[in-house]
Amino acid sequence: MSATTYPNYSPGLEGVVAGVTSISEIDSDRSSLVYRGINVHELAEHGSYEETCYLLLNRRMPRREELDQFRMLVGDERDVPSGVYEAIKQLPPSTHPMDMLKVAYAVLAPYDPDYENNDHDANVRKAIRINAKAGTIAANGYRILHGLHPIAPDSSLGTAANFLYCLSGEKPDPYTEKVMDASLTLYAEHGYNASTFACRVTVATLSDLYSGMVSGIGTLKGPLHGGANEEAMRMILEIGDPSNAESWLRNAMAHKKKIMGFGHREYKKGDSRAFYLSRVAKEIGIRKGITTYGEIADTLERIMLEEKGIYPNVDFPAAYAYYLLGIPIELYTPIFVVARTAGWCAHAIEQLDNNRLIRPTCIYDGPANVAYVPVDER
Ligand SMILES: CC(C)(COP(=O)(O)OP(=O)(O)OC[C@H]1O[C@@H](n2cnc3c(N)ncnc32)[C@H](O)[C@@H]1OP(=O)(O)O)[C@@H](O)C(=O)NCCC(=O)NCCS
Repeated sequence: MSATTYPNYSPGLEGVVAGVTSISEIDSDRSSLVYRGINVHELAEHGSYEETCYLLLNRRMPRREELDQFRMLVGDERDVPSGVYEAIKQLPPSTHPMDMLKVAYAVLAPYDPDYENNDHDANVRKAIRINAKAGTIAANGYRILHGLHPIAPDSSLGTAANFLYCLSGEKPDPYTEKVMDASLTLYAEHGYNASTFACRVTVATLSDLYSGMVSGIGTLKGPLHGGANEEAMRMILEIGDPSNAESWLRNAMAHKKKIMGFGHREYKKGDSRAFYLSRVAKEIGIRKGITTYGEIADTLERIMLEEKGIYPNVDFPAAYAYYLLGIPIELYTPIFVVARTAGWCAHAIEQLDNNRLIRPTCIYDGPANVAYVPVDER
């Protein structure tokens, strides 16, 4: 029997139920995503990223005074210890910001007073610190890698505005802030995806939340996961003009290339986050008088659907939305990290609240009964 036909074996764990969660639900048939029962579109459109973080960590929506208090708590935790910036300064300038983030979260861990305390309340306190600092680290880490001084975070700003402020030194206008906030909300959580699963596996050994973040960041980096948003933008720029889009795509398909920002393990009828963000990305283009990327996107989306029945995922419109906002491409996956720290922490806490070591089994498919031959007789 070949390994791939072995009973109960599913390559890539496709379709395997690996746990129970009350954090989010993906409905593949309806292409919908809810966080603790609330549709993610409602949160993106009418709520805020901070409300979403509160919901993910505390299992319910905050009342007004609870939200105000949470915003203050998060705002007060945005500062980053100078030791983290010193560590980033040691990195070669060519370091990808995702690798910088792995270093930053590894170095940040021992600065947390609750670092090795895995009690529920300590983990919630750590989750707030981890989440609050993510935007500051992503923006200032990028600045340091480019020879610039870090900018002190502004505790009065939300995560989206603080990230943009630390990146450029200027507070964003309300529209830009809202777009960034909505994209963080859409990216905040997504069930047992690869990086969240890696994070759960890590903390299930009773390691700490920061180790979970480092695992999550390393896993998210790959282009089959979060790294797709950067690759999607490079592809759009390579295409350059809407008149090239069809020939570029047909040539790529003829060479069996994977088109970045398309396809999804869970959504075979489309990713609702992509529908939402695609509308937003096109609106930004119209406001800025740059419709090129939206037109390229339309052609790619049409042909991918006609030829392969494959829809774009959230990373595709996120890519050109961020580009139109003037954000450097290497920061697109780090922005995903900024948002997803909320989901990773919620999952780490859920895992530790009812822990069981995650240790699957595998099929041995190697040689049998091989005698040991002493090294000089081989
Ligand atoms: C996300 C992804 C890894 C999901 O993969 P999966 O569930 O393992 O599905 P597969 O890679 O097995 O794809 C199934 C089929 O669709 C095709 N396919 C899937 N995504 C494709 C893409 N982006 N471009 C071209 N073909 C694609 C595969 O080639 C395969 O075709 P085949 O059966 O003829 O070999 C995959 O769609 C992909 O690589 N997408 C591009 C990267 C990306 O955008 N990642 C972000 C995800 S949020």
